[in-house]
Amino acid sequence: MPYQTDLPGAAALPTMYAHRSIRKYTGEPLTQAQVEAILEAGRAASSSSFMQCVHIIRVTDAALRAALCEVAAGQKYVREAAEFWVFCIDYAKHKQQVPDAQVDWTEALILGSVDAGIMAQNCMLAAESLGLGGVYIGSLRNDTARAIGLLGLPEYTFPLFGMCLGHPAQDPLYRPRLPRALMVSENRYRRADEAALAEYDQLLADYYRERSGLDLNWRKAIANTFGKAVRPHILPDLQAQGLAKR
Ligand SMILES: Cc1cc2nc3c(=O)[nH]c(=O)nc-3n(C[C@H](O)[C@H](O)[C@H](O)COP(=O)(O)O)c2cc1C
Repeated sequence: MPYQTDLPGAAALPTMYAHRSIRKYTGEPLTQAQVEAILEAGRAASSSSFMQCVHIIRVTDAALRAALCEVAAGQKYVREAAEFWVFCIDYAKHKQQVPDAQVDWTEALILGSVDAGIMAQNCMLAAESLGLGGVYIGSLRNDTARAIGLLGLPEYTFPLFGMCLGHPAQDPLYRPRLPRALMVSENRYRRADEAALAEYDQLLADYYRERSGLDLNWRKAIANTFGKAVRPHILPDLQAQGLAKR
């Protein structure tokens, strides 16, 4: 655990501080009670303007899992995890209720994406508090059109990310986060200190070398992710679903 506190009553903190993404699972299924407890934690999350514009698809069909695994660059834990859930933005029911609701603004997309992230993290934390582990699957957005077809997502919905859950069969190293001084400032934005950035690069380089023998640091990771067009199909796919048109 990277951080510890003896604050009284802070029951959730050790679970939060111990977080690591889990990508290997024992194969043991979750009980119905576990699944329900995790879903209820998601349902309890805050929701912007109380719009509740998130839909979770629990993928139990093996063939569908295999197809979604292909969409997600073949990451095999999508097939192997006890549970695989897809978190979708969902304004379809809002349009049912109010047919002329203007859900095609970019703000509506941000609202729904933020809500989905908050709901999903409630689920992840609930799972971790039960001794389970998981990992988010953003690479489901590699081919959103195919994911939409596979999941039967109607107009005004969109798949944002997946989540694998299961019993951990690994205990990975903690991935060092940016130091607090680079993440938090007081009253106004503070430009990152170059020396602190370089120090963090070194810390991550050591982490990647130890964990997987990779020659990687934060700067290289940023260049890898954002040094090219980033899933350029997303905007047209969103618009085809009736979202992010203005
Ligand atoms: C929205 C989101 C999408 C992610 N997508 C993937 C993914 O497709 N595949 C994967 O292996 N990890 C994925 N991750 C996990 C991140 O790589 C991981 O959280 C990060 O490297 C920090 O490591 P940690 O969670 O072990 O602390 C995703 C995380 C988030 C929040």
